[in-house]
Amino acid sequence: MNKKMFWVKLKTFLLLTLFLCVLACLFGGLCILGFFRQRRPGEPPLDKGWIPCWVVFISETLCYNGTGNEHSILDAASQKHLKGHGLQIMTETMMSKLQNLMLHHLGSCENQKSWKEDGLFNYCYNIVFRAGYLALYGNATAQTEGDEEKASAKDRTESEVLFHEFRKYDKLFPNLAYGVLTPKGKREANRLLSFFWDTLSMERIKSKENISGWIWDMSHNRKEGMQESMIDRYMFVLLFVSQSNTGPSSFWLLFYLMKHPDAMEAVRNEVLKVLKESGQEVRPGGPLVNLTHEMLMKTPVLDSAVEETLRLVAAPLLTRSVLQDMTLKMADGREFLIRKGDRMAVFPYIAVHTDPEIHPDPFTFKYDRFLTPEGTKKTDFYKGGKRVRYYTMPWGSGVSMCPGRFFATNELKQFVFLMLVYFDFELMNPDEKIPHFDANRWGFGTMQPDRESNFVTGLGIKSSTHCPKKY
Ligand code: HEM
Repeated sequence: MNKKMFWVKLKTFLLLTLFLCVLACLFGGLCILGFFRQRRPGEPPLDKGWIPCWVVFISETLCYNGTGNEHSILDAASQKHLKGHGLQIMTETMMSKLQNLMLHHLGSCENQKSWKEDGLFNYCYNIVFRAGYLALYGNATAQTEGDEEKASAKDRTESEVLFHEFRKYDKLFPNLAYGVLTPKGKREANRLLSFFWDTLSMERIKSKENISGWIWDMSHNRKEGMQESMIDRYMFVLLFVSQSNTGPSSFWLLFYLMKHPDAMEAVRNEVLKVLKESGQEVRPGGPLVNLTHEMLMKTPVLDSAVEETLRLVAAPLLTRSVLQDMTLKMADGREFLIRKGDRMAVFPYIAVHTDPEIHPDPFTFKYDRFLTPEGTKKTDFYKGGKRVRYYTMPWGSGVSMCPGRFFATNELKQFVFLMLVYFDFELMNPDEKIPHFDANRWGFGTMQPDRESNFVTGLGIKSSTHCPKKY
């Protein structure tokens, strides 16, 4: 064999080897992605799409039970502090924080009739986030700040800075979760994380008082097996899960009420009745209205408006890893085999919330959808003649169902209650259409409007936010 022939053969051999390697990798990759997977008898239909990915989407009304993960510390802390007596304490603390943020300038208004323009989304998110944060993570002490007044002022300033930074992270979050952040975005996200880990660190939190039992237990009980830096990181996870949905939900609730005068009137009447029955009133120089847990138990109309709002705007994608082969039982009696190793996703927004059979005229806000003719909570909803067990799922379901749901509901109600009894407010443009959702956020919880800046300039609130109306 001459030299030239030898090189030609070697080249051919190398190219062939390379080609076979690429082919093997491609084949292996497609196998891993499940490209050649066949649907077995009893399995649900699977949509391969362009990028085959075996997430089993459950988009029908179902009878779903969570898988058995262990959440012992979270469960114990939530059971103790976000339910029963613990919830009452949290609700009282939340009230005092809302009073500090919303009513601290009472009596200091020079022009009672002046209106303040603001962005409705920003306003609601800001107040509810900051009050929730202070209620959970504690407040500045009069001892270190000089007096109560200064401590309250410090809380207002510090929580404002935190909210500002939180919103930056919140806006980056969908792209971060999809893994498509730009390098600049990644740097900013890392900077924000460092800021939060530092601000919420155990070292700093120790200097506060009235730290909620929930946060205290979650940090304290973890301390045994966890480095302090990890606890600091966990504190931010808790801030994110506890504060990223409630503020946006409060915006939609107030917005829907403003767009539906009959709903607004019904809720306002109920709120005023409960206030009167408690023997309290809003009057110049009088004590601040104290909205107790007991008062919040007497508001079925407001409850229904909250539930209806969440039905329309809560769109979490609930994902679970399938740990063992299992049979999923659907509400209509069908059964599907689910394979171990698959990921399962439930999207209640389509499956339940906007199913016209369960909720007729599903895209219309009906404040009394969850009220019986007698004015009590309605719990019977039907599909195909059968009663549906999960007729809304804004809080998820099963083992990781939101443990903060009772507190979150109280937060929303307290905020709306104070808005109604202390302030006049209306949309700048009463004909303003209900905004669309920011499509980036499907699956992440409560949706956000797609036009935040339009709210600030166009929609806004024509509100004497600094002046109680009854002066
Ligand atoms: C309107 C407000 C809120 C909404 C719509 C909401 C919704 C949700 C949803 C959909 C989940 C996932 C559930 C699942 O995977 O099955 C969740 C988890 C969670 N939420 Fe909420 N949430 C809200 C407020 C809160 C608040 C105020 C707290 C705490 C005080 C909180 C604490 C948590 C925690 C710790 C988890 C994780 C649970 C786990 O993994 O076991 N949430 N929430």
